[in-house]
Amino acid sequence: MALTIIQHPLAAHLLTHLRDQTTKPALFRTLCHQITLLLALEATRDLATEEKAVKTPLEPCRSRVLARPLAIIPILRAGLGMVEPFLGLFPDVSVGYVGLERDHATAIAHSYYCKLPPLGGRRVLVIDPMLATGGSAAQALDVVTAAGGTDVALVCIVAAPEGVAFVEQRHAAVPIITAALDRELNAKKYILPGLGDFGDRLYGT
Ligand code: PRP
Ligand code: URA
Repeated sequence: MALTIIQHPLAAHLLTHLRDQTTKPALFRTLCHQITLLLALEATRDLATEEKAVKTPLEPCRSRVLARPLAIIPILRAGLGMVEPFLGLFPDVSVGYVGLERDHATAIAHSYYCKLPPLGGRRVLVIDPMLATGGSAAQALDVVTAAGGTDVALVCIVAAPEGVAFVEQRHAAVPIITAALDRELNAKKYILPGLGDFGDRLYGT
């Protein structure tokens, strides 16, 4: 399985401000939007294209367009913060939703919602900013592959080694694209150094 950690000075800059505990929700949402744009470009850099004839104002030419549709599956709730940048870059993207919430005591995620578009023939990106134990991502990937997703990748902002290993074990063929691979999980299964609870910081809860 391929793990890609995006290397870009702007990604590092944005991540620093996301980590900063003094960053308030409005700025946090903006930073989330901006870093997701960089992740989205990386996660789609190998999308298939096909030739198309167009006429420029000067002459006809053959150029290229995207050949296959894209689907994104945000894991609710924090994954919602990453949807808008994908919609901006790929206006035709289909959006499905998987609702998962970790139990505060056990850190085991339970499912409370699922609505998926057709996934066959599409690049499917499961998007969730935090990959901690990997339980939520692995459950979402179970659902997506059971629904016919075959070309699937996971996009996150901060990953822990434990989560990467768990997803690798359960979904060996799924590439992971992240902006950071952090040190470890703490006893409560939060990522260290991490940035805290992403959903709470995104929505001010
Ligand atoms: C967070 C985060 C991931 C999950 C990661 O969601 O957005 O979905 O935890 O943890 P894991 O890798 O150990 O499963 P949370 O359950 O806090 O729900 P929320 O998005 O509604 O805040
Ligand atoms: N979910 C979060 O939002 N943050 C963590 O550090 C772990 C899981």
